[in-house]
Amino acid sequence: MIFRYDFGAPLDTGAVIRHIPAEKGVPGFFDVSREGEKIRFSIALSRDDMIFGLGQNVRGINKRGHLYRSWNSDEFHHEETTKSLYGSHNFLVFRRTEGNFGVFFDDPGAVEFDLGYTSADRAVITSENGNLSLYIIPGDSLKEIVRSFRRLIGRSYIPPKWAFGYIQSRWGYASEEELRHIVHEHRSRHIPLDGLCVDIDYMEQYKDFTWNSSTFSDPVSLNRDMKEEHVRLIPIIDAGVKEEPGYEIYEEGLERGYFCKKADGSNFIGAVWPGRSLFPDFLREDVRRWFGRKYHALLDTGLEGFWNDMNEPALFYSEEGLEEAYRQMDMTKGENIGIDAFFGLRDIFGGIANSPEDYRRFWHDFHGKKVRHDKVHNLYGCYMTRAAAEGMEEYDSDKRFLLFARSSCIGAHRYGGIWQGDNTSWWSHLLMNLKMMPSLNMCGFLFTGADIGGFSNNTTEDLLLRWLQLGVFTPLMRNHSAQGTREQEIYRFGLQEDMKNILTVRYGLLPYLYSEFMKAALGDECMFRPLAFDYPEDDLACRIEDQVMLGDQCMIAPVYEQNARGRYVYLPEDMLMVRFRSAEDYDLLPVKKGHHWVDLQLNEMPLFIRRGCFIPLSRGAEWVDAVDFSSFTLIGWLDDEASYSLYDDDGCTKGWSLEAGIRRIEVSKNGDGFCARGKELALDPGGLLG
Ligand code: GLC
Repeated sequence: MIFRYDFGAPLDTGAVIRHIPAEKGVPGFFDVSREGEKIRFSIALSRDDMIFGLGQNVRGINKRGHLYRSWNSDEFHHEETTKSLYGSHNFLVFRRTEGNFGVFFDDPGAVEFDLGYTSADRAVITSENGNLSLYIIPGDSLKEIVRSFRRLIGRSYIPPKWAFGYIQSRWGYASEEELRHIVHEHRSRHIPLDGLCVDIDYMEQYKDFTWNSSTFSDPVSLNRDMKEEHVRLIPIIDAGVKEEPGYEIYEEGLERGYFCKKADGSNFIGAVWPGRSLFPDFLREDVRRWFGRKYHALLDTGLEGFWNDMNEPALFYSEEGLEEAYRQMDMTKGENIGIDAFFGLRDIFGGIANSPEDYRRFWHDFHGKKVRHDKVHNLYGCYMTRAAAEGMEEYDSDKRFLLFARSSCIGAHRYGGIWQGDNTSWWSHLLMNLKMMPSLNMCGFLFTGADIGGFSNNTTEDLLLRWLQLGVFTPLMRNHSAQGTREQEIYRFGLQEDMKNILTVRYGLLPYLYSEFMKAALGDECMFRPLAFDYPEDDLACRIEDQVMLGDQCMIAPVYEQNARGRYVYLPEDMLMVRFRSAEDYDLLPVKKGHHWVDLQLNEMPLFIRRGCFIPLSRGAEWVDAVDFSSFTLIGWLDDEASYSLYDDDGCTKGWSLEAGIRRIEVSKNGDGFCARGKELALDPGGLLG
C-alpha cells in the first residue's frame, strides 16, 4: 500500500508514474507544522533506528546524524560537510523498532533533511516552499518498501551492453589525433576499452552540437574508425547555450522564445564555459522536443552515446550578479581595507557562482504556468536528460543509446544514468563511491558510477588501482579526470599491468554483472544493497558502512585506504572469498561467518559469494562484444544443488524481457563433485567447492 498526502499546491514533477489518490489529513508517522511557507515533518527516532536512501549524498549508507539539503549544486569540491550535491533524491527508508516505512517527498524545490543533527532523537524534514506530495510506503522488509517505491516511479533506464565496458575520459582531449592515440595506447597494450568520452574540448568555443573543425575535421570517419577498434565516442553536451549571433541553436532558441526569461520577459543571461549563455526552458515540452532533435545531427555521424553536464544549471555568474560585484568592488576602491572589508571583498567574487539570487532571477513555463526557477530548481537537470532521451527515442525508438548526466532528481532515472559528479582523488571519495551505490539504487539510479581515480587533484597509482577494483562492479566504469591534473590513463602508470589485469575481472564478470543489472532494472530491485536489507536480524551486519551486497549472490568489500595490504571484513554468513588478480588468476577461500582480516596485496581484489550460491565467470576480453556469454567457469561454495538465472539479450535493442532472456544454470551433486546444466551453455563446474 502506498499513501499520498498533498500539501499546498503540489506541481506535477513527473517523478511518479502511478496515480495514487490523495488521502485526507496528515500522515500518521509525522508531526506536521508550518512556519510561513515552510512545512516541517518531524518524527521521533529511537536509539537503534536507521535511515537509508537520499541517493546522491555525502556521508554514510545510514544517513542518520547529519544535515542534508536537496538543492542540485555544482559542488566540485565537496567533502563530508557538504549538504547538497548534484542530484536531489528525496526518498528515505526508515528502519525503526516501531515499524519500517519509506517516504518520498515529491517536491521540486529545496528540502532540508535534518536526520538527527540538531537533535539526535528526531528527524525533521523541511520543505522550503511547502508545496509537495508526500508518499508513505509502509512495509515489513526494506527490500519490499524499496520495490514498491520503484514501481511507483517507473522502470530504470537501461543502457546498451557496450556501455558496461571500461570508459576512458578526460577533460582536455583536444584533437582527433589525441583520441586515436589514446585508443592505440590501450589496444596495443591489450588494456580493455569500450568507450572514450569527449569533453568540452571537441566543441567550437564550447558551443553545443558543434565540432571544432580545425581539431575534429571529420567526425564521421573518426567515429567509423573508432568503431572498427570497438570503441564508441561519447561527447558531452552542456545545458547553457552560447550567446552568439549567427549560431544556429542560439538564433533558433531566441526567435522561438525557448530560453528561460526574467520576470520582465527578457532573456536571462548567465555564464558557463562559453561565457554569456542562455538556458533552454527544458520544463516546456516544445523546448525539449527542439533540443532533443539537436542530437540527431550528432547521431547521424555515428555516435551512440552522450553525457549531459552543467545542468543544475551551473552558473558562473549572471549579468546582474557580475554588475553588482563590480559595483561593490568600485565602492571599496581607494578605501583602507581592513579585515572585515578584505574578507567581504573576497566573498563578493567568491559567492558569485551558483548564487541563490540568480536562481530567483529567471522563470519557467511549466504545465502552462509561470514558475520561478528556485521553486522547481531540482527538476532542471532531469528535464534536460528527458529532452535528450526523447530526442534519441524519436531518432530510433528501438535502439538503446548511452546517456548519463550530472544533475538529476527522481524521475530522471527513467531517462538516463548519472555519474557521481566532480569528486577528488581522495581515498575518502573512493569509499563515498561505494556508499552512494545502494542509496542511488534505492532511488532508481542503477546505471551509475563515480569518476574512477578521482576528478580533481592528482591521483596516485595505488589509489587508481584500488579504485578500479571497486569500479569493476559499478555499472558505469569510467576513469575521468580534470584538465590540469596528472594524466590518469592506465598506461601512464608503472602499475599498468596490475590495472589491466583488474580490468579483465570486469569483463570476466560481465555476464554476471549484466544479468544482475538487468534483473534489477526489469524487476525494480536494487543491484547494490546495504547489508541491512539482506540480514535484517543481524544487528552487526546492519551497521556495516564499508561493505555492500551485489546482486543476490555476492558481497563486495573493497580496500579504500592508502598502503593497506588488506582489510577487516565482517561476514554475516559463510562465504566463498574469491581473491582476484585477473579473470584467470584467482584463489578461492571458504570463509566462515564472523570477523576476518583479509590479506589483499595491491594487485588483489576480493569478491564474497554467499555459501549455497555460485556465479558464472567468463574469460576476460578487450571489449564487451568479445565477451563470451555462453561458456563459463562456475564459482561457488555449495553443499547441495543450486541454480543461477543468467540473463542475456542482444544488448542493443529494447527487446528486453526476463522471460526470454533468462537461462537457468542448474548445478547438482555428482559423487564428490558437481555437474552443471544450462541450455546452450558450456559450463565448467571446476570452481565449485563442496
Ligand atoms: C564539469 C564536469 C566535468 C567536466 C568539466 C568540463 O566540471 O562535471 O566532468 O570534465 O565540467 O566539461
